[in-house]
Amino acid sequence: KTDLSVQISTLQMKNPVMPASGAYDYFEDNADVFPMCTLGAIMLKSVHRYPRPGNKPPRIAEVTGGMLNSIGIPSIGIEEFLNKGMLEHYKTLNVPVVISISGGSPVDYVEICKMLEGNPFIDAIELNLSCPNVGTGLQLASDEVLLGRTVQSVRTVTSFPLIAKLSPNVTDIRKTAKISEECGADAVTVANTYMGMKIDIQTKKPVLGNIMGGLSGPAIKPITLHMVYQAYSVLNIPIIACGGIMCASDAIEYILAGATAVQVGAGNFVNPMLMKEVIEGIDDYLAKNGCQSLSDIRGIANCRK
Ligand code: DOR
Repeated sequence: KTDLSVQISTLQMKNPVMPASGAYDYFEDNADVFPMCTLGAIMLKSVHRYPRPGNKPPRIAEVTGGMLNSIGIPSIGIEEFLNKGMLEHYKTLNVPVVISISGGSPVDYVEICKMLEGNPFIDAIELNLSCPNVGTGLQLASDEVLLGRTVQSVRTVTSFPLIAKLSPNVTDIRKTAKISEECGADAVTVANTYMGMKIDIQTKKPVLGNIMGGLSGPAIKPITLHMVYQAYSVLNIPIIACGGIMCASDAIEYILAGATAVQVGAGNFVNPMLMKEVIEGIDDYLAKNGCQSLSDIRGIANCRK
């Protein structure tokens, strides 16, 4: 019998698969479609420090090899989110819950983490430092100084495992990954969506209301896979891979490159059962290769380590 469990600091997961932030919003919408209890963890849509309406529609466009989104983190804000008791719902699923948070400045992240400290309904915090769809200031993970300052100041106010979600819109992911580690992150998520756009040749205008959006889906997988490979070569903390997973073998490639866990985003919209198939496919792969646990294959394709 294979052991699919993984650990990220104190976050214990029975398998390495979780949704990417935003892929599932409020679980009432999805619990009757997907058996959430099979997941390694549940990842929530980013909650912002203050209420935000999100971006002008259209917010989604299909492109060859994936999709663009420019949702813009619509949020009721952390205060109302906590007052409404949103987190209590998720806890009933008996799966570790990771809350994703976002803000416009390092101070916003610190304030949210102070409000979350000691909360019995969450198991870890993912800092969304990399949304490409909000005006200046939010893609903190593309700015080495702001990234370091944010992770470091959050670290001093929270005892939860901290996951820094990095931006792929950088010249060297090794640098931002290493800064996150040095400033106290317990793991990094590699990575958010890539800045892109689509133009309608009839109207001769950008399709998205926000003009640009974040590219996700199979088109980005080889690029993100290389980033995971590069990040693994310099890090001592776990990597959560996120980028274009459409089947179990995509997830296995990420694990061979060095990922400890994986997130599935765009693929859920194409195949609502995908995460279950990915978990089963990884299990099969380990069994067929005579492996007992994920540590037998993690990073073994990586000759830079
Ligand atoms: O592609 C993304 N879209 N990444 C994020 O971090 C947030 C999301 C949005 O709401 O725009």
